Amino acid sequence: MILSPSILAADFSRLGEQIRQLDEADVPYVHIDVMDGLFVPSISFGFPIIESIRPLTKRVFDVHLMIQEPIRYVEQFAKAGADIITVHLEACSDVTATLTAIRNAGCKVGLTIKPGTPIETVYPYLPDVDMVLIMTVEPGFGGQKFMPDMVEKIVALKAKLAQEQLQVDIQVDGGINPQTLPVVLEAGANVIVAGTAVFRGDVKENVAGLEALAQQ
Ligand code: DX5
Ligand code: ZN
Repeated sequence: MILSPSILAADFSRLGEQIRQLDEADVPYVHIDVMDGLFVPSISFGFPIIESIRPLTKRVFDVHLMIQEPIRYVEQFAKAGADIITVHLEACSDVTATLTAIRNAGCKVGLTIKPGTPIETVYPYLPDVDMVLIMTVEPGFGGQKFMPDMVEKIVALKAKLAQEQLQVDIQVDGGINPQTLPVVLEAGANVIVAGTAVFRGDVKENVAGLEALAQQ
C-alpha cells in the first residue's frame, strides 16, 4: 500500500508543521486537491501553496486536479512541484492531449473518474497512464461517506489490467478509514488517499494505524 494523505483535511493555519508531521510519519506520497469552483463546487488552493510546501519534504506530490480543462495548467503545476498529476476524464475535451502534456511536463500521469462515470471509459487510455484514480465519493469535499458501489470498479479495473498485462496503479480517494481500507485493498487498490482519517487526531498514530491494517 502506498498511503497518500490528503492535505485538504490539514489545518491550513499551520500547514508547514502538518507537512513535516507527514514527513516524519514516513508517508510515501502527499495528496494535493486542487479545486476550481467550476468542475467541482469548492475552491481549495493553487500554485502558491504547492510552491511554498515543496521545499519542506521530498515526498511525492500527488496532485489531484478537480479543474475544468486542466491542460491549460499542467506545465505550471509541474513547475510548482507536482510529481504525479491526475486529471478528471470528464473535465478534458481532449483526454489524450492532456495526458501527453502531463508526460511532456516530466510528471507521472494519472486519470480519474467521478462515481457516476463507468470504469470502461478509462480503458482506452490505460496504455498511457501510470495510475487510475477511482473516486469513492463525489469530488469536491473531504469528510464524506465512502460509496461501497465503487468497489466493483476496482475489481473490474484490476482484471482489465491483468488481462492487458499493464502495470498501472489503482488509487482510491474519499471516505477511506480503518473500516473501509481493508475493503479497497482486498478489491485491488494499492494507492490510498486519506484526509480526515490521517489529520483528525494524531497524524503519526493515524498513519501507523492505517499502515498496520494494510499489513494484515
Ligand atoms: C475530495 C478529495 C479527497 C478528500 C478526501 O474531492 O479529492 O482527496 O480530501 O478526504 P477524506 O479522506 O476525508 O474523504
Ligand atoms: Zn483527491
